[in-house]
Amino acid sequence: MDGNGRWAKKRGLPRAMGHREGAKRADEIIRCASEIGLDSLVLYAFSTENWRRPQEEIGFLMGLLKDYLIKKARDIISNNIRFMAIGERHLLPADVMAGIVDLETSSVSNTGMNLALALSYGSRQEIVEAARRIASRCISGGLKPEDITEKIFSDHLYTSGLPDPDLIIRTSGESRLSNFLLFQAAYSELYITETLWPDFGPEQFLEAISIYSTKKRRFGMTSEQLNHPCAP
Ligand code: FPP
Repeated sequence: MDGNGRWAKKRGLPRAMGHREGAKRADEIIRCASEIGLDSLVLYAFSTENWRRPQEEIGFLMGLLKDYLIKKARDIISNNIRFMAIGERHLLPADVMAGIVDLETSSVSNTGMNLALALSYGSRQEIVEAARRIASRCISGGLKPEDITEKIFSDHLYTSGLPDPDLIIRTSGESRLSNFLLFQAAYSELYITETLWPDFGPEQFLEAISIYSTKKRRFGMTSEQLNHPCAP
């Protein structure tokens, strides 16, 4: 969700106002994604690298998240959304963590869209952590190195249980993944738009999905193989 700072700067506003407007868009996109029946939505709200920002900005973002978790809990539950937070959760302030755990617990049996907020998230750290946990299982004798598969590796990532992303949307014209779902994004379609996140509403979101739906995903196969009646 990139471009909050630039959106605010263009209007002569403090960066915090860009984040506040960005949080409103995030809420609209969550509602839209759930209404159109998406299986899962992951929002990259705070990266491991974002801890390097000024303390004041970090504090503001954490406050926004805490407010969101409190104010929107009822909507999330009544819309049958299952909520989770992925990332280095132990680094988050206690009040944000409490909001996360409450909402995860109260939405755990919901059967609609999975909503994951990536918070203090970094994909390299996630991969290293998965490798550590797999290595401990090997040492304790629970797993043999030769039995490690892509599926087992994937099950040790924070996103275990979520499908790999079909589509990754990057706003504000940046064309890099910035440490987001590096393992999971192997076959994802990338949609890059110049639009700044606070200007990226449901209309733009549906446009991105509409463009995505015209793409032919071959997963390394030929078009002829994919068109075969026995194709997966
Ligand atoms: C990156 O834009 C954005 C962030 C680091 C924060 C994103 C967080 C939100 C949109 C709030 C999320 C809240 C909820 C409730 C889900 P930037 O500030 O780096 O923008 P810039 O590159 O233009 O400076």
